[in-house]
Amino acid sequence: SNFQFINAYTEGQLGIIVLNRPKVLNAINRQMVSEILSAMEEFEVDDRIRAIHLSGNGRAFAAGADIDEMANDHAIDFELRNQFKDWDRLAMLKKPIIGAVQGFALGGGFELALCCDLLYASDDAEFGFPEVSLGVMPGAGGTQRLTKLVGKTKAMEWLFTGKRISAKEAHQFGIVNQLFAKEILQEETIKIATYIAGQAPLSIRLIKESVNKAVDTPIEEGMHFERKNFYLLFSSEDQKEGMKAFQEKRKPIFKGK
Ligand code: HXC
Repeated sequence: SNFQFINAYTEGQLGIIVLNRPKVLNAINRQMVSEILSAMEEFEVDDRIRAIHLSGNGRAFAAGADIDEMANDHAIDFELRNQFKDWDRLAMLKKPIIGAVQGFALGGGFELALCCDLLYASDDAEFGFPEVSLGVMPGAGGTQRLTKLVGKTKAMEWLFTGKRISAKEAHQFGIVNQLFAKEILQEETIKIATYIAGQAPLSIRLIKESVNKAVDTPIEEGMHFERKNFYLLFSSEDQKEGMKAFQEKRKPIFKGK
């Protein structure tokens, strides 16, 4: 691919992105965020692609936003360049994103991991928000996403101390779905992504939307939203195919239509 800080390619029905700035532990500069979004949005409009896999390499998923790039920034620089517009676009993507964290996921790297729909990690992965030691705080959703995920008690502790969260702890608190040995993380999570890519794409799409809706919506409104999406699936060809295949005791062939 013609990216500088990531590798992006397709493999069957998967769009695969590997952060690739290993000399600085995949520190995330603005160019990298923009490349991640370009790649993801290409996958998003590619009918062949049904799931996106995101990982780092070497010793890190990503050790945070690039400190060198922002050390001299002022508030107005962020405002004028609308610093987080790419992060907002990331949250708008409809295809499922499967993240695989090996090594460090710190600061902005942890925030990027928290943007994934399913998150896996190697058993030596380390998460954390060290911003407090730099005189800043998370700015790409960290205080919001972590708190919604684990509750105020642990979020406040981890954000106040900047203390590292072990893979085991991250798993216990529901931050990651499952842990794998480092050597098999990539291979196993590609398998999971491939499996998800084999499910009815419209179901995955509307489930993602509905589950995300639940996070910050009163239950009545969320129930209504879910119901409309449920109805909508019955106007898809895949619903007819999926149920017919069940009745005919064969495997369905989904078209994403
Ligand atoms: C720029 C970074 C970096 C970062 C590591 N490097 N993290 N450069 N920004 N976030 C660079 C180091 O400077 C070093 O470069 C090289 O990567 C290897 O790192 P070392 O520190 O030598 O490795 P090690 O001693 O093993 O320590 C690993 C580490 C440490 C614990 C992860 O690198 C570290 O504390 N990094 C910063 C983590 C952090 O504070 N992240 C939050 C950033 S703020 P050289 O050239 O010396 O070899 C943030 C705000 C988000 O993310 C806001 C919204 C996006």
